Order: sequence, then C-alpha cells, then structure tokens
Amino acid sequence: MSKKFPEGFLWGAATASHQIEGGLINNWVKWEEKNATRLSKDGQRPSNEALKEVACDPENYKSNSSYSCDSYKYWERDIEAIKKLNLKAYRLSVEWSRIQPERGVFDSKEIEYYRKYLKALRDNNIKIVLTCWHWTIPVWLDEEGGLLSKNIYKYFNEYVSFLAKELGEYVDYWIVINEPESFAASYLLGMWPPGIKNPFLFHKVFKKVLPKMYIDSYKTIKDIDKGSKVSLAKNVWHVSSCSRAPWNRFVAFLFDRYMTVSIMDQVVKYTDFLGINFYFHNRLGIRGLRNDNDIISDLGWWLDPGKIFNVLVKIKERYNKPIFITENGLATLDDNKRIWWIEETVKAMDKAIKEESVELMGYLHWSLLDNFEWDKGFWPKFGLVSVDPQTKERRIKRSGEFYSKIIKENGII
Ligand code: BGC
Repeated sequence: MSKKFPEGFLWGAATASHQIEGGLINNWVKWEEKNATRLSKDGQRPSNEALKEVACDPENYKSNSSYSCDSYKYWERDIEAIKKLNLKAYRLSVEWSRIQPERGVFDSKEIEYYRKYLKALRDNNIKIVLTCWHWTIPVWLDEEGGLLSKNIYKYFNEYVSFLAKELGEYVDYWIVINEPESFAASYLLGMWPPGIKNPFLFHKVFKKVLPKMYIDSYKTIKDIDKGSKVSLAKNVWHVSSCSRAPWNRFVAFLFDRYMTVSIMDQVVKYTDFLGINFYFHNRLGIRGLRNDNDIISDLGWWLDPGKIFNVLVKIKERYNKPIFITENGLATLDDNKRIWWIEETVKAMDKAIKEESVELMGYLHWSLLDNFEWDKGFWPKFGLVSVDPQTKERRIKRSGEFYSKIIKENGII
C-alpha cells in the first residue's frame, strides 16, 4: 500500500551549534578541557581507530568539539548537502556564547553570521526551525552559576528577545529549548557540565527553572510577533512495563508521568505545536531497564523505530495539537541499519496519520551530519552525510540518498 504523506509535509534534518560549528568557547569546551583525561577514556567505542574520535585528547589538551564539523567556516557546504538531499526543512541552533560573549554584550558580527545562513536557507525554499538553546552556555554565565544563577530568567529572556527581533523574519518555527529532561539529567547523573550530582537540583532545574525559562521566552517571542510558531523539543520515550506485575507497571507509569507528562502538562498551554524527539523505547520495572530487543545502536540504545507510532498517538490523545518530530535517528556505522530505521519510522508515521488522524507537520532526522556527540566525541555516527575529518568534505551516505528519495516521492510508493 502506498504511503503518501500530506501535501507540504516538512521532511528535514536537524543539528545543533556545539555539535557542528567549531571554534567555540563555551561552558562545554571548558568542561571538556578540565575533564580531558576522563573523557578520553570513558564511553568510547572499544577500538583503536576510535581513540582519535573521543571527546577530548589529553595529549594536546584540546577539546575536540572546538573544531567539530567546522560548519561555522563551511556552512555553505552544509547548505549544499541540504539541497542535494532535497530537504524541505532544516533545524539548527544559535550558539548563545557567540551571541553574548560577555554579560550584557550582544555581538552584531555573530548575529550577521546566522542572518546570512538563514537567508540562504530561505532563498532555497527551506523552512527554518530555529533552536534558541541547545544546552551550551556562555562562560560568563557558567561562572555565575549557569542555570542556577538567580538572574537566569532575565538573561535567557533577553537573549531570546534579541534573537526574535534580529532573526524573527526568517524563522518559520521556534524551538526555544531542546530536551529539558536530558539537560536536567546531567544534574542527576553528573555526566555533563556542570558535573553536579544532586537529585534536588535535578528536580529544581527540570521542574522549575527550565519550564519558567521556556514559558517566559514563549511569551516574549509572541509579544514580538503574534504570528510566530513556538514550541520546545521534548524527548518522549516509549515506555512500557517489563511484565504484567503491578509493581513493574507502576514504575513504568511513574517514569512516564515524571519525565514526560508532568512537564508537558505544565507548558502545553504555551505551545503552538509540539516538538517531539523520539529515540527510545524502554521496558521498565522495579529492577530498572528490562529490555528484550537485541537490535541496538552503537551507543547501546535499544532500537524499535515503529514505537514512534505509540508516542504519536499518546501525545495526540492527551494534547490534541499539531506535532513536529524535531529529532529522530540512531548512531550506527552500518548504513543499512539507518535505512531500515528510516523506512520503519516512515511506515509508523504514515500509520499514525492515516489510522489515528495524528496531525503530523513534519519529520527532522537527527542528524544532517556525522557530528560531535557531547561526552562521546565523533565515533557515534548519526549523520545522513559524513564529514571527512581532515578536509571536512561532506559526502551523502546511501541512507541520505534513500531518505532523499522518500522526500521526492513524499512518502514510500
Ligand atoms: C540531542 C542531540 C544528541 C542526540 C543523540 C538528542 O537527545 O538533542 O543533541 O546528539 O540526542 O544523542
């Protein structure tokens, strides 16, 4: 049966500034330098070639994210790749540390960089999904306590207001904050900056600070332009109980309530659509994760792409708003696996639209490029396009060609 998507469906891909731009000085780069030895050992793929791809190389004490895909320099190459892939939409993020290198200072040269980028996308008829904040913060703010600074709401709101005034004319969809739960989790697990492990701070950042940052900024963008379309990108797991036992079901229920439902309930009134990132399906119980699926990504994540159907239906039933898949993908060196993932995802989205009347606006694959993966480095390959580590040449993978064909046909024929 043909799987044609609604006219105007926004097929695209996503990236984030810290993961592709290079040349950054932000809290993450500082943290990488401080944690160089650990980052060069932890979480790496166990093979020798992977060594040079880790997050930090203590030998030359250089943070590897500081060159990344060098998109700041080669942004036109990214636009070429976007065009070759036939993308209808592209999600990118603005780097806060570029725009506000010092407290109270807004850098007009840097805003120009984003302006010319967005203009080029628009000239090529590519819809722009702009993320205001994808986790990295300026060093001066980090020194003031980062998200725990007493002035965080004021600072963030000023920053977003500046973006809305300067770049608003180009933006089709705003994503104010990326994945509040993932960022907040770093306060629980300590794996990312600021390297704190404190459940109370986690709760505070997740349930109070991030929602308020989001809601204030939503209002600010709407005050500047009533017609703008604003949301956040929420990572939604598909969670089920690992057995019928009531205690396991209760754990799965609680996880879903805490990580997804409660925060979405809090912000949903202040969204014009719902940005959803989908990567995970997990079976939970009192003993933690009990998955039974043996298909895993290079990062060890259990892969079940079809579960995007369940997530879409659940979100639609509870919130009944248009949904935009703002990230979805997998880390793999096996491009056939990526092709399989994309195909299964497209089938599941088609089913959700046709059988459950989900109002799905678009789908953004994570990621356009093989890029820098936070505390891991370069070895997890998420891209539709590879990047040569030396020349920075971009090359479309077979999965990219496969996706591009889907876009041309607006589905699977
Ligand atoms: C984040 C990306 C990240 C991807 C893969 C998402 O949660 O938004 O920045 O690279 O997952 O880990």
